[in-house]
Amino acid sequence: MLRLDKFKKYPLTFGTTPIEHLPRLTAALGGKVQIYAKRDDCNSGLAMGGNKLRKLEYIVPDAIESNADTLVSIGGVQSNHTRMVAATAAKIGMKCVVVQESWVPHEDAVYDRVGNILMTRLMGADSRIVEDGFDIGIRKSWENAIQSVKDAGGKPYGIPAGASVHKFGGLGYVGFAEEVRAQEAEMGIKFDYVIVCVVTGSTQAGMIVGFAADGRADRVIGIDASGTPEQTRSQVRQIVDNTAELVELGRKVRDDEIVIINDYAYPAYGVPSAETNEAIRLAARTEAMITDPVYEGKSMQGMIDLVKKGYFPEGSKVLYAHLGGAPAINGYSYTYRNG
Ligand SMILES: Cc1ncc(COP(=O)(O)O)c(C=O)c1O
Repeated sequence: MLRLDKFKKYPLTFGTTPIEHLPRLTAALGGKVQIYAKRDDCNSGLAMGGNKLRKLEYIVPDAIESNADTLVSIGGVQSNHTRMVAATAAKIGMKCVVVQESWVPHEDAVYDRVGNILMTRLMGADSRIVEDGFDIGIRKSWENAIQSVKDAGGKPYGIPAGASVHKFGGLGYVGFAEEVRAQEAEMGIKFDYVIVCVVTGSTQAGMIVGFAADGRADRVIGIDASGTPEQTRSQVRQIVDNTAELVELGRKVRDDEIVIINDYAYPAYGVPSAETNEAIRLAARTEAMITDPVYEGKSMQGMIDLVKKGYFPEGSKVLYAHLGGAPAINGYSYTYRNG
C-alpha cells in the first residue's frame, strides 16, 4: 500500500478521469492491439485542465500554509504549465507571476498572443516573456522573478517548470496509477502498457512509482518530447527516488524500470516532424481526439510507430495517457492551415 493518503490534497480537478476505448484508431492501426485513452485532458473546469492540475493538487496546500500571496512559475511562451499555475492562482485567490522563456522557434505572427498565453493573461497573471532558450532545469529567470516579488514586498511561492522538481511534484501521478488500478477492477480488464509523454519528468516519475506497487513500472513507456533526453532521464530518476520515499514504496526503483524512448522528439522541442503531424491528423480524424505538436502529438506518434513495429505483443491493451495541451495548436495555424 502506497501512502498517498498522508498528503493534503486541494481539489482542482473533477476527480477520476474517464478511460475510453478508441475503436477507430485501434482499427486504423491494424486491430491487433487495443488502444484506450485516459482523458486527463478533460480533468477540470479550470482553464481547460491538463496534467499539471493533478500535480498542483498536492502542491497548493503547501503554498497556502507558507502564507504566500504570489505563485511564481516558468515555462515556454506556449506553456500549458504556466496556464495551469495562472488558473490555480486565480482559483485560490493568489497573485501569479510566470516567466515565459523563448523555448520554441515559431512561424506564426501571433504565437505569443493566442492559446495558452492568451488564457494566462486573461486570468490576470503577470506574464513575462524572456529570451532564454529551452531548458527543463532550475532557471535564473525564475529565481529573478521570485526575487522581484520579494523586492516588491510580496511573498512568493516558487513552482519550477512543469511542477516537476518540487518536493511534491510526483505525487499527483502516483494517484493516477491508483486510479487506473481501481478503474481496471471496475472494467474487468488490465492494461499491459501505459504511454506517456515526458519532458520535465514528474508525470512519468509519479506513474512509475505508482505502478511499481504492483510490479508494472516498466510498462510505463515514456516518449521523450524534450529532445534533451539525458537531462529528462536524470530528472525522472531523481523524482522517482524522492517520490518513492515520500509514499513509502519500500524499495528502490531499478534503472531498467524507467523506460524512456528517445526516437520521436526530433527535430526539436516544440517543433513537430512530418510524422508528428500525421499522428495528430490520424487521432483527430479517427477519434476527434485533439493532440498538440509539442507533447501529445509526439507521444501519439510514438505509440503509433511502436504499434506498427510490433513492439506490443498481439492482444495487448495499451493505455494512452492524454495529458492535455490542445490550446497550443492555436500557435501553429500555419502548420495546420490545410488541416
Ligand atoms: C500536454 C503536456 N503533455 C506532457 C507534458 C510532459 O509532462 P512532464 O513535464 O511532467 O514530463 C506536459 C508538460 O510538460 C504537457 O503540458
